[in-house]
Amino acid sequence: MVLITGGAGFIGSHVAEAFLAARHAVAVVDNLCTGRRENVPADARFHAVDIRSQELAEVFAREKPECVCHLAAQMNVSHSIQDPLHDADVNILGSINVLENCVRHKVRKVVFASSAGAVYGEPESLPVSEEHPSRAACHYGVSKYAVENYLGLYARLYGLNYTTLRFANVYGPRQNPSGEAGVCAILMGMMLSGKRPTLYGRGDPVREYVYVTDVAQAVLRALDKGDNETFNIGSGRGTTVREVFDAIRDLLGFAHEPILEPLRPGEVKRIYTSPEKAARLLGWRAETGFAEGIVKTLEFVKCAEL
Ligand SMILES: NC(=O)c1ccc[n+]([C@@H]2O[C@H](COP(=O)([O-])OP(=O)(O)OC[C@H]3O[C@@H](n4cnc5c(N)ncnc54)[C@H](O)[C@@H]3O)[C@@H](O)[C@H]2O)c1
Repeated sequence: MVLITGGAGFIGSHVAEAFLAARHAVAVVDNLCTGRRENVPADARFHAVDIRSQELAEVFAREKPECVCHLAAQMNVSHSIQDPLHDADVNILGSINVLENCVRHKVRKVVFASSAGAVYGEPESLPVSEEHPSRAACHYGVSKYAVENYLGLYARLYGLNYTTLRFANVYGPRQNPSGEAGVCAILMGMMLSGKRPTLYGRGDPVREYVYVTDVAQAVLRALDKGDNETFNIGSGRGTTVREVFDAIRDLLGFAHEPILEPLRPGEVKRIYTSPEKAARLLGWRAETGFAEGIVKTLEFVKCAEL
């Protein structure tokens, strides 16, 4: 039995599908603050519970999970700067509540969704390896890194196994086109409704994009591999936001130029990571090329717009 926190969200719902396809029993905990009930696969049991609440203990008692994939989070960079107490409440205190329940209910392993884009800050050199120091540029990066540290502590204190996966920018079906994160879905949503998108950093920022089903496969691999290790989960390739805009514009035949604005606070200028450690120890590599991934994402966004 695998318990997925945040399993009604964009990435978590794909993780739930990957575990079900690999014949694991799956339960989902999600308070639906950004997730959607209809994202949860029919074969997964669903608990509408906040990870910060006392009720989480009842979910653990009922489900008796062998493993926990912890994806529930406040994941909006700007919001973390505007309301750092809320960010820390969900991401740090909520995660401690998850870890305390893992120890109490003798969970074998926790797989944690961290963020490559937020934990490192502006990198000293590219591509970034897992040894690069954490100099987060926003509260969200600090809260993710804090949980990474708590995982190390729980491993030392209680022998709770973990794997931390630092995801690059994840894109694909079910990402919210009206959210703040997820440049691909946002650009698609805007262009489909005939609006000129804004490119922050004037389109120059370099990011690393990884397709959501590839990320779900990395989580699945981490169930039995990479104990007490941290991995970058990305394509290893840097792409400018302008390149993303151009690729989507070409697919849609969008006629307008973007609005160019300076970078928002908390965002780094250039980042992409080395996924070599994940290849070596998890046997994982990103399989879906960007051209293929954006076509699949666009099919979803078009249907969602109807
Ligand atoms: N999307 C990305 O590019 C990206 C990159 C790096 C890391 N991550 C991490 O991956 C995870 C999933 O992100 P996502 O993109 O799917 O975002 P998402 O917002 O779609 O998913 C987060 C889920 O957590 C749930 N949630 C939030 N607060 C909760 C709470 N207090 N109790 C219970 N459930 C709660 C939400 O309802 C949602 O379903 C997050 O931990 C995020 O930080 C995402």
